[in-house]
Amino acid sequence: MERIVITHGPEETEEVGVELASRLANGDVVALVGELGAGKTTFVRGLARGLFVKDPVLSPSFLLARSYEGRLPFHHLDAYRITAPGELSEVGLRELLPPDEGVTAVEWANRITDLIPPKAIWVTLEHAGEDRRRITLRR
Ligand SMILES: Nc1ncnc2c1ncn2[C@@H]1O[C@H](COP(=O)(O)OP(=O)(O)OP(=O)(O)O)[C@@H](O)[C@H]1O
Ligand SMILES: [Mg+2]
Repeated sequence: MERIVITHGPEETEEVGVELASRLANGDVVALVGELGAGKTTFVRGLARGLFVKDPVLSPSFLLARSYEGRLPFHHLDAYRITAPGELSEVGLRELLPPDEGVTAVEWANRITDLIPPKAIWVTLEHAGEDRRRITLRR
């Protein structure tokens, strides 16, 4: 199943995330793809809001992953700095793909394709004009 949405600003992209969050269950993985500034973190903020996460979503870049409490535990992983798949096991993150409990959102999922479970929801964000983004959701 594939769905394409054009958004006209960060708020709209966040809303698409909120909407997807309402349909997420334990063990789900949301795999995000898109170049720098495409809106991956913006979308993740929507996912967090939709999962009733109270804490602000910060960039996980330096820690690789952060976990939040919400309707379900929410894990935010950034694969930008991951150069070898082994690095994930080294930092104990393999257990987040898929998560035993809760939902995992992965930015730069295309860098660790081999580690993304087959049932993941793929979300691709592309620039489509200054404040426009084309979001493709695929399950
Ligand atoms: N329609 C839109 N959807 C999302 N972000 C938008 C949109 N229009 C403009 N923006 C802007 O684009 C930027 C997106 O930044 P964001 O951090 O979400 O991207 P990212 O893909 O996570 O980048 P990075 O690869 O650096 O982590 C923000 O500054 C946001 O305000
Ligand atoms: Mg980001």
